[in-house]
Amino acid sequence: MAAIINQWAVITIVLSGIALTAGVFLIRSGNREAHMRAMLIASALATLFLVLYLTRLGLGYEKKYVGPEQWRGAYFFLLISHILLAAANLPLALGALWNAWKGLRAAGNLGNIGAPAARPFFNRHRAWVRWTVPVWLYVAATGWIIYLVLGRYGEVVKG
Ligand code: HEM
Repeated sequence: MAAIINQWAVITIVLSGIALTAGVFLIRSGNREAHMRAMLIASALATLFLVLYLTRLGLGYEKKYVGPEQWRGAYFFLLISHILLAAANLPLALGALWNAWKGLRAAGNLGNIGAPAARPFFNRHRAWVRWTVPVWLYVAATGWIIYLVLGRYGEVVKG
């Protein structure tokens, strides 16, 4: 059961990374409406990931690395950076979403983002996403790598 939850957690975080990448391309091509939808989907998938991950933790499922010794250091670097940045991603995403939401309310609609009341929020949105996007992509990519490594070199210690 816990192994299946773990599999779904990886699927949701990878899909959220894909939706995030699509959202970046969409805003680059000027499609704000589709950008908003892609980012809300990315956020919903990341939230689902968090729920699945916490459920898995609650079930006590854990795997340890039993692969080649010379890769242990690299593996732990990946794992620790992944955990720290995953924790940082939550406030980063909330900051980006909050400013987008306030900006949208001040603008009235996405065609009016240049309105003086909306401008400061979208400027802040851009400042937040400069960090949010790379951190989120790193977390999604390393989550998938860790899953593959543990699939090959992992041993269940609690399940
Ligand atoms: C956490 C989720 C989100 C992320 C990671 C994100 C990411 C981005 C990125 C990378 C840009 C381009 C910034 C630049 O050109 O320097 C951007 C711009 C923009 N985003 Fe988002 N976005 C998110 C959610 C939203 C939502 C929900 C909305 C809708 C209300 C929205 C509306 C906009 C608008 C209107 C712009 C253009 C701002 C401007 O040209 O000044 N974003 N966003």
